[in-house]
Amino acid sequence: LPSDIRYEDLVITRSKHLQVKPKLDATTLKFGAVYSDHMLQASWKDGLGWTAPSIDPLGPISLHPCAQVLHYAVECFEGMKCYKGKDGRLRLFRPDMNMDRLARSAARLTLPHFDKVELLECIKELLRVERDWVPDKEGFSVYIRPTMIGTHPFLGVGPTREALLFVVLSPVGPYFPSGLKPIKLYVETQNVRAFPGGVGDKKIGGNYAPTILPQLNGSHLGCSQVLFVLQDGNSTGGLVGESGSMNMFFLIRQEGKDGDLELVTPPLDGLILPGVTRDTVLTLARGFGGMKVSERPLRFDELERAAETGRLLEVFGTGTACMIQPVMGLVKKDHTEIAIPFNEEAAKYWLAKPPGIAALPDLSGGEPFSLCGR
Ligand code: COI
Repeated sequence: LPSDIRYEDLVITRSKHLQVKPKLDATTLKFGAVYSDHMLQASWKDGLGWTAPSIDPLGPISLHPCAQVLHYAVECFEGMKCYKGKDGRLRLFRPDMNMDRLARSAARLTLPHFDKVELLECIKELLRVERDWVPDKEGFSVYIRPTMIGTHPFLGVGPTREALLFVVLSPVGPYFPSGLKPIKLYVETQNVRAFPGGVGDKKIGGNYAPTILPQLNGSHLGCSQVLFVLQDGNSTGGLVGESGSMNMFFLIRQEGKDGDLELVTPPLDGLILPGVTRDTVLTLARGFGGMKVSERPLRFDELERAAETGRLLEVFGTGTACMIQPVMGLVKKDHTEIAIPFNEEAAKYWLAKPPGIAALPDLSGGEPFSLCGR
């Protein structure tokens, strides 16, 4: 039988040249630009299975120029975070969800199956080796990037025969250079991120590269990201999707006197990435009570009408990298802006319901935080 990834086979080779750790400052620690000293890796071959996983000094990987990943984007990845608590212990947030999603993305690209529990144990060991890289400052963490690529040198388009799985770590603070200050989003109606029957719900590199140009275009209008709105032939302004790096939430007061508060996010209909932070916000918001929490299609017209009548109370994005990112404006193609003013009603709502760790509902059927170190 081909072998699977096994924690007990893990081989560790420590680097002799450890780097100086960066200063934890949101203005200097650029997201995803600093990496720790070691990486985890394992390779796979059809019929043979996985090699023993290893933790090695971080360094370049060697690829044949015809490796599938370089030609047909046979690549998927995850974004997870590890925090150092006040007690000095390392904790991963809901890592089982990332392992599940990685397995689903890999399967869609014919990348190999792996044992999710064993891989997670290997990642925990990498974090123990790199524990000094895990920031202990609030708002900072180590961002974990598990990645799987098709390495088979083959220019025909066909199933993966060879693959490499690697995991790198990057100490991070806020994703956007502005820190956690509210940002503006460009309403992107021409370029499409995901379409029905496509792969918008998979975390694959091919979903991200095409979002860079729209993002660059939006940046000329002062926007940090875009909000993809799919034109689906319906005349109601298009279907609100997600942003390139975040799921989106909208707090809307329904029409009429004393209309209900509704927190809306687009549903998991194949166009939306099933975000771990998205799921967490939904679970917490449902636990808070006092507002309707909906995963439902949202048309851009409804959003505009709510904004015009002062009922669009709050907009925020969620993502592992972005955490919870407030949005203060949606800039449209004609350069007009839907402003989302700081809303006291919304602020009061959230502040009156501090979740507190004890009040956290059961996430993923157990501890939301998985301990991985002293
Ligand atoms: C994440 O939030 O983990 C992501 O992968 C988004 C990426 C654009 C940084």
